[in-house]
Amino acid sequence: MSQRITTAYFREAKRTGQRITMLTAYDYPLARMVDEAGIEAILVGDSLGNVVLGYESTIPVTMDDMVRHTKAVARGVERAMVIGDLPFLSYHISREEALRNAGRLLQEGGAQAVKLEGGREVADTVRALVSCGIPVMGHLGLLPQSVHQLGGYRVQGKDEAQARRLLEDARALQQAGAFAIVLECIPVPLARLITETVEVCTIGIGAGPHCNGQVLVTHDLLGLSLGRTPKFVKRYADLRQEIVRALQAYRDEVTGGAFPGAEHSFDLPEEVLAKLY
Ligand code: KIV
Repeated sequence: MSQRITTAYFREAKRTGQRITMLTAYDYPLARMVDEAGIEAILVGDSLGNVVLGYESTIPVTMDDMVRHTKAVARGVERAMVIGDLPFLSYHISREEALRNAGRLLQEGGAQAVKLEGGREVADTVRALVSCGIPVMGHLGLLPQSVHQLGGYRVQGKDEAQARRLLEDARALQQAGAFAIVLECIPVPLARLITETVEVCTIGIGAGPHCNGQVLVTHDLLGLSLGRTPKFVKRYADLRQEIVRALQAYRDEVTGGAFPGAEHSFDLPEEVLAKLY
């Protein structure tokens, strides 16, 4: 078994400049494939809501959803760090609830770290989790759990005040003990400045090439997602088309009588059959 990726790996990557790869997974088979591909971190993102549960946003996703899917992912992974996302309102109501919920992702889910959205307003929560031995990944920029407040999925940090705030939020997360920070949908020069400013790894999604690592939703890069594809997604395969083609071929062969053939069927000895007639 290869050695598990830990927070020490992230620290070393920041020091050496080696880029980190992170992808999402929500189930056992995909998690196994992502791990097999050598990806260093697997995020069981609350994008689960949009991508596989059919919700319009991440807001309906519950702790029980996250625990169930984190468990499935963790069962399939040997090397990558498994990071469980804390869903909407699971870390805002009280420090105790945040601790209990993050603890569930590690204890029941089998994750090695958690991710949560926000800057200075969650810094005390991050500090409390880290002080209990729970590694925390921050998330700044476009925060899908705040989509109603942000007024849609759009680029963040475009004016000076917003950009300054993001830079300060990144510092606040680092000081609170976050081991890495996702930067989602922010301008390239701002992501570069944040990356050069903080001592922890930045993991970009729609934040350009200067981050210490990159993350994408795996279903997006495989061409399995439905709906609009964000500009920052690069498709490395078109599996949806390939799957529909295979399903139609199955349908055609069943309706036409070509499947199942002898090679997919089981025979009965003649003498046994004869006795049945
Ligand atoms: O939930 C998720 O998949 C995420 C990534 C887009 C970073 O937060």
